[in-house]
Amino acid sequence: VKEGSLVPRFGRARRDDALAVLEGLHAVKHAMRFGAEIELAVTDDAARLEALAERLAPDIAPALAAIVREVEPGLFAALAPMPPPTGVLAIAARRAYDPAAILSGERHAPVVVLENPRDLGNVGACIRVAAAAGAAGLISLGGHDLWHPDAVRGAAGLHYALPVARVQELPDDARPLLALDPDGEELDASELDARSILVFGTERDGLSPELLARAGRRLAIPMRAGVSSLNLATSVSAVLFSWRLSRPR
Ligand SMILES: C[S@@+](CC[C@H](N)C(=O)[O-])C[C@H]1O[C@@H](n2cnc3c(N)ncnc32)[C@H](O)[C@@H]1O
Repeated sequence: VKEGSLVPRFGRARRDDALAVLEGLHAVKHAMRFGAEIELAVTDDAARLEALAERLAPDIAPALAAIVREVEPGLFAALAPMPPPTGVLAIAARRAYDPAAILSGERHAPVVVLENPRDLGNVGACIRVAAAAGAAGLISLGGHDLWHPDAVRGAAGLHYALPVARVQELPDDARPLLALDPDGEELDASELDARSILVFGTERDGLSPELLARAGRRLAIPMRAGVSSLNLATSVSAVLFSWRLSRPR
């Protein structure tokens, strides 16, 4: 790869819906750990990155050192709108997931559905927590690209650990829907069915009347009086970890 071609190559990768741009060691680490095909990885300081990877991600450190290419700091800074302080950027093939397979529910774990999420950092945080809690997958009903570099950075690259997909509409024969809504009945985690689809609303307006009407139940995470709602990713976290912690070990 010629140095001069790196700026256009990263620019094209950001617009290519078959590719993911990974910004920072956290995202690169998870992508490599969960089997992503890395096409290209660059750093502004190979020795510093190697030391950091040895400390924070020793399992992938040798493989990263073998593929990463050092470039001038000025060139590195031109490859991302906000160059990551960990000093590594990569391009990898996205993983294609089948939304029907996610929703059909082979896995005995809930699926998270986000209705029209607006904030890519929030989307990434939802993917990260859903992967950590062991959810079966995450579906977005919205216009955003789940693989946008900001969402990948927010998810710390855990798109490679959790099936994620975008659909226009939920099919009618999907698993039972549970709506998470601050005005619902109080959530009892021990009653959460592992085969349910947990539906979360958009940041400002919450769930649409259509999805509320389709859901079997509306459940609320109890909050102190006067607090109107939790942040979207925080509420996904509260529900998934209450499910996980209430499962028999
Ligand atoms: C920032 S909130 C939306 C707030 C919106 N004004 C409303 O009343 O739903 C985004 C989503 O997080 C979930 N959420 C936030 N707080 C919740 C709570 N206490 N109980 C259940 N779901 C909650 C809901 O799915 C909500 O649609």
